[in-house]
Amino acid sequence: MNLVQDHPAAPGGPGAADGGEGVLRLAGVTVRFGGITAVDQVALDVPSGQVVGLIGPNGAGKTTLLDAVSGLRTPSRGRILLDGADVTARSASWLSRHGVRRTFQRHQAFGWLTVRQNVLVPLEWRTRGRGLLGDVLGLPHRRRETGALLERVDEVIELCGLSEVRDVNAATLPIGQLRLLEFARAIVDSPRLLLLDEPTSGLGRRETELLSEVLLGLVQRHELTVILVEHDIDFVMGLVDRVVCLVQGAVLADGTPAEIRRNPEVIAAYLGS
Ligand SMILES: Nc1ncnc2c1ncn2[C@@H]1O[C@H](COP(=O)(O)OP(=O)(O)O)[C@@H](O)[C@H]1O
Ligand SMILES: [Mg+2]
Repeated sequence: MNLVQDHPAAPGGPGAADGGEGVLRLAGVTVRFGGITAVDQVALDVPSGQVVGLIGPNGAGKTTLLDAVSGLRTPSRGRILLDGADVTARSASWLSRHGVRRTFQRHQAFGWLTVRQNVLVPLEWRTRGRGLLGDVLGLPHRRRETGALLERVDEVIELCGLSEVRDVNAATLPIGQLRLLEFARAIVDSPRLLLLDEPTSGLGRRETELLSEVLLGLVQRHELTVILVEHDIDFVMGLVDRVVCLVQGAVLADGTPAEIRRNPEVIAAYLGS
């Protein structure tokens, strides 16, 4: 089953407002927590199919920026455009149904559900409230209808190397597999814009390689746009087209991996010598 591009487009249609070609456009996005400015007037245009690495020291505002783009936090100022439509005030659930999916720095898997049930949850909305999870947990006559979605779930589970633990409760998984499960949940509904918050943290070397392969495969096959927050600089640099370095909430540098590696300001603020 191909769910790619099967998300309702943001109202206004692709590129409707502002004539933007980019999937994502941030204009002067600012997020404040009381007196702290966590994200400071960030302007960013991300074209379709681009993989952007977002780096910077702890507290730079990387997670908060992903929170704003995914609708978990409304910016204090500025605008967020998706396919040219203003989505600044849209909720996280609205954005996820329109193809914006993410992972969290700390995994959000449901421990009492199996791996397979966990990966089904993000597809739940496609059953138009009939309750996909209910179908899988019981109700045999519903299973036919959900067959295609289940096929997609199993495909993603296999892609993420989780087939052997498919029917295991998530709570019993080691951290590496939990992180891969989190990733599986983020990609199962074939997002257009994928936001990953430190996806390799807790992964072993082999798991990191697997993640990198899966991500590259997705990007090459589809018009998937990715923003990747990551501390593992080798992982970032090997995977992305472009790197944005955030310091104290603001964009310090924006360029190719090679440019960023030799940027003296980035070296001083983050990379070290
Ligand atoms: N919920 C919150 N309430 C208050 N301050 C916050 C909150 N979340 C983040 N911050 C602050 O915002 C800044 C950016 O944090 P964060 O986005 O988590 O950075 P990063 O992901 O780059 O490490 C930090 O100074 C952090 O302390
Ligand atoms: Mg963070």
